[in-house]
Amino acid sequence: MKYLVTGGAGFIGSALCHRLMASPDAQVTVVDKMTYAANPASLAPFEEEDRFRLVKADICDQARMMDLMLADAPDVVFHLAAETHVDRSIDGADAFVQTNLIGTFAMLQVARALHERKGGAGVRFVHVSTDEVFGSLGPEGRFEETTAYDPSSPYSATKAGADHLARAWHRTYGLPVMVSNCSNNYGPRQFPEKLIPLMVLNALEGLKLPIYGDGSNVRDWLHVEDHADALVRIAEAGVPGESYTVGGNSEKTNLEIVRLVCQLLDERRPERAPHGDLMTFVADRPGHDLRYAIDASKIDRELGWAPSRDFVQGLADTVDWYIANEAWWGPLRETVYAGERLGKVGA
Ligand SMILES: NC(=O)c1ccc[n+]([C@@H]2O[C@H](COP(=O)([O-])OP(=O)(O)OC[C@H]3O[C@@H](n4cnc5c(N)ncnc54)[C@H](O)[C@@H]3O)[C@@H](O)[C@H]2O)c1
Repeated sequence: MKYLVTGGAGFIGSALCHRLMASPDAQVTVVDKMTYAANPASLAPFEEEDRFRLVKADICDQARMMDLMLADAPDVVFHLAAETHVDRSIDGADAFVQTNLIGTFAMLQVARALHERKGGAGVRFVHVSTDEVFGSLGPEGRFEETTAYDPSSPYSATKAGADHLARAWHRTYGLPVMVSNCSNNYGPRQFPEKLIPLMVLNALEGLKLPIYGDGSNVRDWLHVEDHADALVRIAEAGVPGESYTVGGNSEKTNLEIVRLVCQLLDERRPERAPHGDLMTFVADRPGHDLRYAIDASKIDRELGWAPSRDFVQGLADTVDWYIANEAWWGPLRETVYAGERLGKVGA
């Protein structure tokens, strides 16, 4: 099988590449602009493999994407390239509109050209999206495939628009598109601007652990390797035109997450305990959705996928990964992002 993975040098994209490359007959081409969020170290194990290729390119460059797509002729496109950090989208939405909307449009157009060249068969397009497109839940209920779109942030609004484009390319042009809307991911190789790695690295360095508002916002956490399994399953057996909500059945408040991280670090770095003393409540994120939760029964029932990793064990493994892999994150903290507050506009 030949796969094209956009955004493959990012957090989820690289986990997906590890998952795909575990099959000896898989051929993987990654297209990635190598923004601040990409890390070539995440793909280093495949550098010497003939069946793996990393192409540094912008998905918005439709002519370049067309050449690549027609030459490569993949069986499956996994489209993950995106600007992904909500706080950065509050500070400046331009790159989000470009990559998430225009870039998705470009990828759909070139996949459509390949689909037509192959006589209407032979390329499946997995569009990877987020549960944030559904807006905020109250204390009850869960998002499912039929939940109405109601995005709150510039990030989620651009992802919502991209989802609509993806579905329209199926309905209008017959491109076999499957959309996945996934909850918050955690695990190794996540850029340390996101909650869990930011808390782990700040705590390791004895820095403050900033918690937005009162820490009561709830997210449904999914291990990134479970997500990679779900994406492969959708590529194999998903029905074109359908959406799949993908979640971890692990709802936690941000405060619970930070307390758990502190507890795990107290066990591993007792000389710095109690790490909980570093917790600091800061002004909330503007437009901060209160709660996300996923009903993943459709993908379980129809495609036989369910999350398999226990959250507390997965979090402990993630903390251990960051402790063991300073070579991966150290240079990022020094040169790209040191943990400063982003997205405060209007707060
Ligand atoms: N992280 C999560 O919890 C989560 C949850 C649900 C859905 N998603 C979605 O999954 C996808 C991957 O998320 P992630 O957390 O791995 O993101 P990430 O920020 O870690 O990685 C994004 C990757 O896309 C690349 N990229 C950005 N703009 C590009 C462009 N114009 N052309 C080519 N490459 C470009 C970056 O260089 C980076 O490698 C995104 O589409 C995101 O919306 C993420």
